[in-house]
Amino acid sequence: MSCTIVVGAQWGDEGKGKIIDILAQDIDIIVRYQGGNNAGHTVVVGDREFILHLVPSGILHKGKLCVIGNGLVIDPLALLNEISMLRKKGIKVDGNLLISQAAHVIFPYHKIIDKRRGAKIGTTGRGIGPCYVDKMARCGIRMIDLVNRDLLKRKLKANLEDSVEFDFEKIYRMYLNYGRRLKGYLADVSLVLNRAIDKNKKILFEGAQGTLLDIDHGTYPYVTSSSATAGGALTGTGVGPTKISKVIGVVKAYTTRVGEGPFPTEFNKSLMEKIRCKGKEFGATTGRPRRCGWFDALIVRHAVGVNGLTEVAVTKLDVLDEMKDIKICIGYKYKGKIYEDFPADIDVLYNGKPLYEEHKGWLQDTGSVTRYRDLPKKARAYLERLAEITKVKIGMVSVGSKRNQAFRIS
Ligand code: IMP
Repeated sequence: MSCTIVVGAQWGDEGKGKIIDILAQDIDIIVRYQGGNNAGHTVVVGDREFILHLVPSGILHKGKLCVIGNGLVIDPLALLNEISMLRKKGIKVDGNLLISQAAHVIFPYHKIIDKRRGAKIGTTGRGIGPCYVDKMARCGIRMIDLVNRDLLKRKLKANLEDSVEFDFEKIYRMYLNYGRRLKGYLADVSLVLNRAIDKNKKILFEGAQGTLLDIDHGTYPYVTSSSATAGGALTGTGVGPTKISKVIGVVKAYTTRVGEGPFPTEFNKSLMEKIRCKGKEFGATTGRPRRCGWFDALIVRHAVGVNGLTEVAVTKLDVLDEMKDIKICIGYKYKGKIYEDFPADIDVLYNGKPLYEEHKGWLQDTGSVTRYRDLPKKARAYLERLAEITKVKIGMVSVGSKRNQAFRIS
């Protein structure tokens, strides 16, 4: 049995795309299980950069089956555009991609509602939240409905009832057309995956966003609307918990987040500019500058717990190469009380004073290091402290964006 889940252990953008791309070499099937085209997974292959929003990054490896699970919300036009972008770049998609019949569909009205209501949270504006609202309200439209003319008509009519803003006929025809073009990819994903598991195929579940953006375990309400934690891989694909062998968390050597919400270890302006520039910290989906801060052990330890992480991959260690001093947040102080575990109270996260321990920087270039033992001693000490304080083993370290700038730690 070999099913591995990869999740973001912070606020997303941890570099999951690259880690998944490396792991995918030994995998048969790569599966996305939640979210939608709010995600942006960047993978650098040779001198080509790919940014994938819906199709699993495994598509960049020849002969891998890539699956989009029922837990996703799909903007069909965005998906068709991504498929055509991949084809143009010589990547084989047909025969390598399956889409769950039960995944929900994003419509133009979802995007408009998102743009109106999402500003407070700083959403990506892709219609993600409103589409999940319809799913939970049991009026959502699923991929399979796009190939059933009558059902689509009935459901869409009901959803657009009383709306003068939207042209029913136009949207109906547009989505029937998307259905025709995507029909060949539709499948019963749970059946496909469970049969593959019976045949001992290796499966990798690719999480999008991150633990702190999870609807249940994140910094609610400043979260996305899906289950970005490991549990989402089960409900989002129809594979049971007894089939999972490993859960790998991806963490940056520091922290970033995009959009609104509390961020206790956020840098001051000058440090922010420095790290944002060195780490190229701009959103892969919206291009928005990411907020940056020190590594926060409380949030990663929380991620270790709620995901049951068996190991972590630490990314972007090289971004800290020029830092004279490096801090790790080990607690928050709020109204005289010290918090050592991640608090659910948003006031503590907003107003708590982060408590830090300080480490000396290694002030050496790590971008060309290919073995753990060749890292500067102070960089190893930093990583060892991260592992100790977050109570998880580090299995891989990444020191740059290229495929060969990463190594495993046995
Ligand atoms: P939504 O997912 O578009 O509803 O946005 C909700 C929050 O999640 C916002 O703060 C977004 O910036 C954030 N978010 C959504 N997707 C990603 C991602 O892939 N990486 C980082 N942040 C994300």
